[in-house]
Amino acid sequence: MNAAIRAVVRACIFYDLDVYGIYRGYDGLIKGDLEQLYVRSVSNILSRGGTFLLSARSSEFRTKEGRQKAYDNFKANGLDALVVIGGDGSFTGADIFSNEFDLPVIGIPGTIDNDLAGTDFTIGYDTACNTAREAIDKIRDTASSHDRLFFVEVMGRDAGFIALNAAIGGGAVAMIVPEHNWSIEALVSRLRKGAANQKASNVVIVAEGCHLGSSYDIAEKVKKQLDHYDIRVSVLGHMQRGGSPTTLDRVIASRMGVAAIEGLRDGMSKVMVGIVNNHVNYTPIGEAIKTVKRLDAEEFRIAKILSI
Ligand code: F6P
Repeated sequence: MNAAIRAVVRACIFYDLDVYGIYRGYDGLIKGDLEQLYVRSVSNILSRGGTFLLSARSSEFRTKEGRQKAYDNFKANGLDALVVIGGDGSFTGADIFSNEFDLPVIGIPGTIDNDLAGTDFTIGYDTACNTAREAIDKIRDTASSHDRLFFVEVMGRDAGFIALNAAIGGGAVAMIVPEHNWSIEALVSRLRKGAANQKASNVVIVAEGCHLGSSYDIAEKVKKQLDHYDIRVSVLGHMQRGGSPTTLDRVIASRMGVAAIEGLRDGMSKVMVGIVNNHVNYTPIGEAIKTVKRLDAEEFRIAKILSI
């Protein structure tokens, strides 16, 4: 997200526009915690995770009074438009705010979950996938040498994008995602087949929001049917949400930041910038939030073929 902020700031200055950074997300707008940014305000931030503006969630912005205070500060500081970087929650807030006070907003998708329609990638997703895949590579060493079955839980409250990507890139025997109604029986049968085929090591990826419960619950149920396995669970957690971003993340974030400012200059509002088939794309914010983005069917099929 720092790369996106840097791009927004530099694109504004390139086009002779003043630009302000708002600290701590919507809370900063409510409290008037904002300042003008310049070309050098965003030097040396590309390699840092999170955002230097310390963006976070705001419960006060969910209230009409909170949004009124935010609007008052917006006007008092002479602002004309708002760029919002975030996921579902941030965009729902942006949509309501923009409708209530009739002001231009443009969204940039930033969530490791990659669950926003209208873009192939959200900012942070590639970095999270790389972190998960790197962890799986390391776990695999113990899985192979100790002949253990590992359940690795990755993030994705309602979406299996990280899990699917990590499963293909990390060579998992199976993955359990919220979008797919798998059963313990089917998982056990996959593991039995693998054992019959002399599979060298077994790593199962579990998306945190999957319908079969937590990775610990799943491990316990599998253990009951395959008690000869030495089973371990590893929950990767918040390490997936931080750290230095990958090149892909920095590049898409930079492209989206510039596209956000160019979109505003072209009179766009209430849209989210995205990248689809490597081209910049604008989707109405309401649509980006409401449309359910599906896992890629081909990737899903590939993960299964390669798991034998
Ligand atoms: O929404 C993105 C996400 O990373 C989810 O995958 C995860 O469930 C959640 O955020 C974690 O949020 P928190 O830090 O509030 O626990």
